[in-house]
Amino acid sequence: MDIALKEVIEGRTRLLVPVEGDMTKKDPVFYNPVMEMNRDISVAVASIAKPEAFCDLLAGTGARGIRVANEVGVPVLMNDINPDAVELIKKNAELNKLSVEATCLDANRVLADRRFDFIDIDPFGTPVRCMDSAVRAIDTGGILGVTATDTAALCGSSPRACVKKYASTSLRTDYYNELGLRILIGFVASIAARHEKGITPLFSHCTHHYFKTYVKMKRGPGAATETLKNLGYLQHCFSCRFRGYEKLGNLAATCVCGSKLHNCGPLWTGRYAEPDFCRKLQKEFSEGSYGLGKEALALAKTIELEQAVTLPYYDVHKVARSMGVQPRSMEELIKDYERAGSRAVRTHFCGTGLRIDAGISIVSDVIASNMQ
Ligand SMILES: C[S@@+](CC[C@H](N)C(=O)[O-])C[C@H]1O[C@@H](n2cnc3c(N)ncnc32)[C@H](O)[C@@H]1O
Repeated sequence: MDIALKEVIEGRTRLLVPVEGDMTKKDPVFYNPVMEMNRDISVAVASIAKPEAFCDLLAGTGARGIRVANEVGVPVLMNDINPDAVELIKKNAELNKLSVEATCLDANRVLADRRFDFIDIDPFGTPVRCMDSAVRAIDTGGILGVTATDTAALCGSSPRACVKKYASTSLRTDYYNELGLRILIGFVASIAARHEKGITPLFSHCTHHYFKTYVKMKRGPGAATETLKNLGYLQHCFSCRFRGYEKLGNLAATCVCGSKLHNCGPLWTGRYAEPDFCRKLQKEFSEGSYGLGKEALALAKTIELEQAVTLPYYDVHKVARSMGVQPRSMEELIKDYERAGSRAVRTHFCGTGLRIDAGISIVSDVIASNMQ
């Protein structure tokens, strides 16, 4: 391997990584410092779950798997199809005095022969290529961590790509990022159901240019059926901004305002995180050593609270501007929704977003009540 390396520290782990390239697939070994929080969260989830066999399936430099082995102290297998990556993984293991397994195989081959109770999938773009084998290779009660960076497909900019990869119709709404995350989780759920398994999303988030979900796998036809109850469609009206979840057989063509309703899905309509698990993560980030622990702690707090409302958020500043109203502070709006008998909570998807537990007329009336 003839790559210029430098040492960085993530969490409590020393890592040799390539001297900055352009962070593309063509780099000799891929390392993206921007994904540190993604890795911080993987380490924290592993620290809570204490797996007996952690698989960093697309490991690159091994940054994630080496950190899990070093900071959580559980057995780890790291795999990458690139021999230079595997050589670097071994160097990183040596640097941290760790005994780990490193393989240089196609991801699906690793999953065909082995079983794990934690599989983390961090691909270039879409994770769909190895989803079936990952769902098969995960133990009951195990955790599957899935990253997707193909936001154009998931968020409605390339709808045809979304149909091809995720068998779902995406939609370019104001809250496109929430729909993208929900399509990803819905896809994992439908693959699980195909294998008579069910999922519970423990923690999911949208950060920078990627989506990530950690789901707990359950086995059995009952678990699969329960999971499928959380799959449905989002109906959206571009005129009055109505949005609502509906099952396939009940999709309406027209909104109450008379305009056409647009459909997005199938997607996940349930909670994308377990509040109890979010609290465990908060404890881990408060007490542990994480480079981006403060940011991750804030994220876990927001995501815990936002599970109170499953309907997608409103970008209340955008709504206000479209009504010709001066946008008000988020605190003021939250209080006004409370006075109107509804609940409004902030969301990690958007700094000016509120998840509002109310019909579209109340949502609009409260924003319009500032009309001057
Ligand atoms: C986004 S990078 C992984 C980054 C790494 N997880 C991290 O946190 O730094 C994706 C990796 O997948 C590897 N890869 C691509 N296709 C693969 C395949 N079919 N089987 C195994 N590895 C593959 C690439 O060589 C690359 O290192």
